[in-house]
Amino acid sequence: MSIKVKVCIGTPCHLMGAQNLIDAVNKFNKKSNADIEIEAVSCLDECKGAPAVQVDGEIYAPTTPKELIDLIKIKL
Ligand code: FES
Repeated sequence: MSIKVKVCIGTPCHLMGAQNLIDAVNKFNKKSNADIEIEAVSCLDECKGAPAVQVDGEIYAPTTPKELIDLIKIKL
């Protein structure tokens, strides 16, 4: 089953580590062969909770690479 992950790379999210989230998802995607679609977006309207992500339509802000990967694992 495909999981859609949007990672905000707007300035607040970028400054709070958005690239680490993208790197973690890409690494997990390669390692697990999971079907994860990742997209970088400019804002998810959750700037106060940076870094923000959206997983299958649900916003999580803030999140950490570990929290994001744990969330993806639950959805697999
Ligand atoms: S810049 Fe990331 S949610 Fe707005």
